[in-house]
Amino acid sequence: MTATDTSESFQIPMEAAEFYESAFVPAFFAQWAPILCDAAGVAPGQSVLDVACGTGIVARTAADRVAPGGTVTGVDLNEAMLTVARRVRPDITWRQGEAAALPFPDESFDAVLCQMALMFFPDRVEAVHEMRRVLTPHGTIAVIVPGRLDAQPAFAPFVDMAARHAGPEAISLLTAYFVCGDLDQLANLLGSAGLRVTSATTQLGTYRAPSVDAFVTTEVESTPLVDRISDHVYGRIRQDAREALRPFTTPDGAVVAPFECNIVTAQRPISS
Ligand SMILES: C[S@@+](CC[C@H](N)C(=O)[O-])C[C@H]1O[C@@H](n2cnc3c(N)ncnc32)[C@H](O)[C@@H]1O
Repeated sequence: MTATDTSESFQIPMEAAEFYESAFVPAFFAQWAPILCDAAGVAPGQSVLDVACGTGIVARTAADRVAPGGTVTGVDLNEAMLTVARRVRPDITWRQGEAAALPFPDESFDAVLCQMALMFFPDRVEAVHEMRRVLTPHGTIAVIVPGRLDAQPAFAPFVDMAARHAGPEAISLLTAYFVCGDLDQLANLLGSAGLRVTSATTQLGTYRAPSVDAFVTTEVESTPLVDRISDHVYGRIRQDAREALRPFTTPDGAVVAPFECNIVTAQRPISS
């Protein structure tokens, strides 16, 4: 999993965006896009917004469902991600923008989707207010984020092991992905923006990496941890990851692990 999008370095190079699309989207992100579109009831003729669209897997999935007559827009902070999105699907509208200041008029979208990004927003409360602002009165918001770290059977022991070598500071750097993992808190976040939560569920998916080394490289090098540990410590994390991830390592050396996500859907209150 990549955290290419920490607020410290959200503008990533083109190669990283291309790698995200060719490696991480098929290995992890693509599986959730139909689930999110189902949760929001994306249907023909609708106008859909994909917030923090990355290279656009959710927007592409939604575009296939809103035809005929519908429209899809993807918005992201990161120009490199948007460049890849435009190359893959030039027929979709792609806009650069911040989730907490969406560059769209009020009540413009029947569905507002946000996949695997809310946990990175510096101002999550404002971002949810913005999602509500751009939603049509009868529209639906659907948000998906990784679940709790302690519910992730591969990531939890990996983070424990890395923290033993790199110190407790490593925990916050390696766990940025899981900070919205509490389902009740996530539902409350949407509720506190004046939305009516219509469902809050946990779903099990799969995280895949081609090898234990690839898993470690992604987890360490897509966070600032890589600049804060010595080569020796990095080597020990790499070495001990073989043991920590053994239950999830296939005979051909790939890592295939269960991965839990939280999905919340919400609408505007009946009267608003
Ligand atoms: C892990 S990627 C997920 C991308 C996409 N939703 C997917 O499922 O493949 C997180 C995305 O959030 C974007 N992002 C992070 N903070 C943002 C913000 N404040 N406003 C808009 N986009 C943001 C990043 O640029 C990145 O493309």
